[in-house]
Amino acid sequence: MTISNGDAQGLLPTKAEIQDFTTALEVLERDYPTRDGLDVDALLDSDKHGALTYNDFLVLPGYIGFPASDVSLETPVTKRISLKTPLLSSPMDTVTEHNMAIHMALLGGLGVIHHNCSAEDQAEMVRKVKRFENGFILDPVVISPKTTVAEAKELKSTWGFGGFPVTENGTLRSKLVGIVTSRDIQFHTSDEDPVTQVMSTDLVTAPAGTTLAEANEVLRNSKKGKLPIIDKDGNLVSLLSRSDLRKNLHYPLASKLPDSKQLIAAATVGTRDYDKQRLQLLVDAGLDIVVIDSSQGNSIYQIDMIKWVKKTFPQIDVIGGNVVTREQAANLIAAGADGLRIGMGSGSACITQEVMAVGRPQALAVHSVSSFAARFGVPCIADGGIENVGHIVKGLAMGASTVMMGGLLAGTTESPGEYFVSSEGQLVKAYRGMGSIDVMEDRKTTKAGKEGKAQNAGTARYFSEKDRVLVAQGVSGSVLDRGSVTKFVPYLIAGVEHSLQEIGVKSIKALHENVNNKTVRFEVRSGSAQAEGNVHGLHSYDKKLYS
Ligand code: IMP
Repeated sequence: MTISNGDAQGLLPTKAEIQDFTTALEVLERDYPTRDGLDVDALLDSDKHGALTYNDFLVLPGYIGFPASDVSLETPVTKRISLKTPLLSSPMDTVTEHNMAIHMALLGGLGVIHHNCSAEDQAEMVRKVKRFENGFILDPVVISPKTTVAEAKELKSTWGFGGFPVTENGTLRSKLVGIVTSRDIQFHTSDEDPVTQVMSTDLVTAPAGTTLAEANEVLRNSKKGKLPIIDKDGNLVSLLSRSDLRKNLHYPLASKLPDSKQLIAAATVGTRDYDKQRLQLLVDAGLDIVVIDSSQGNSIYQIDMIKWVKKTFPQIDVIGGNVVTREQAANLIAAGADGLRIGMGSGSACITQEVMAVGRPQALAVHSVSSFAARFGVPCIADGGIENVGHIVKGLAMGASTVMMGGLLAGTTESPGEYFVSSEGQLVKAYRGMGSIDVMEDRKTTKAGKEGKAQNAGTARYFSEKDRVLVAQGVSGSVLDRGSVTKFVPYLIAGVEHSLQEIGVKSIKALHENVNNKTVRFEVRSGSAQAEGNVHGLHSYDKKLYS
């Protein structure tokens, strides 16, 4: 039976009662001058709602007129440098060393290398990021003509592979004279013979500058196991291995400067005088972006440091911070900061708000600072408190151009440290705040600490040498295994793209514009709304986030 208007026992309005209109859109336009939900200023009215953080609000859905694959996540990280995705890893000693920095950059983001180590070690990490070429082994094991067969066999069992290039000096950038393969040494019984007696000298090589695709082609055709790459004088510069061929993934989003084949490198320094020498080493290693690491960035020390960096290294971009208010931001922008890092007390391993009584809820902090900084073309990083894809989108919706994650990435294969099994039987990795007592204690016991280089360390962000009592601002703990960032970061990217599609914006830029022109709308979430928005009422469930 079909029910026409007025038939349902008087429950539906009659035709006469329905207003005189032709479409819902006309009524919307005629009778509803403001859009549903709250604009960003009404949302963040702290008189009405208190100071909000990510879990306290939602973004309202918009109109989907395009596929998620059309969404662009390209975004600036400093005034001059843009990335294809808005994802940064934190400069913490349990999060970002060269391996994380390389992979974050390959995947379109940026890893900021921590400075809780000697300046030389940090510069070496920067060098590794700059010298990284996907597929090319830039620090192959190289042997000299004097190496014996026994030593080559030993190297094979240590490294788990054979196939060592032999150069005149036994080092990279020296003249290539041969290659020793597993087969060459396997059945050679005179162990004391030099490798020159067994090595192959009819070599297939490729010149420096060969692209990965070209080199792979040469390797495929040559039927050899290794392809040495040599410069015009015949010196070995890198190596390509057949066994790596299948592992050579394509990284279309990789973060590189225009006209450069190298990944972008970023690292932190503090604000002391000795940090100037550290920065010199980092710049010599090829650094592109320096992040000045202070938990409260609005200080005479940081302002002077920013001015010094801008004057001394005009080619380097400087990110200042951390800040959570317009006034703090204004000082750093005036000093010349090319980007700002926002967050105080929002980090997952952070107890700053509890101990120091200072800080600001992150959503409000991000909006206050980034809406001000945008007037000067200074992009902002929402740093800390990112627990999921939704938080990334909310940080961006509040005006940040990028987000920085510590705890979320600490459990990945690419973070420093080994996995271990927790007392509950789960696979975990250590994660600790840079202001934790643990980090401070390390400073006393590590090599750098004992050598007196510890004052260079990242802990200067939270402790000063003259402190008699150490007041911790962070805790030390562990996080669950998350697998490799090569799977996890693409999941985050896909999640953000889908979220922007639901909001109805095609890019981060459009998100910022539509939040500012009040077409993207928000809603405050009550406590019960938050409970409703999470899994509830299930006896048990498995929260698998991606496959
Ligand atoms: P997460 O992503 O929520 O784990 O936060 C990471 C951020 O926490 C870092 O990028 C730092 O800004 C901040 N952070 C790191 N260590 C500490 C600490 O010991 N105390 C306070 N904040 C910290």
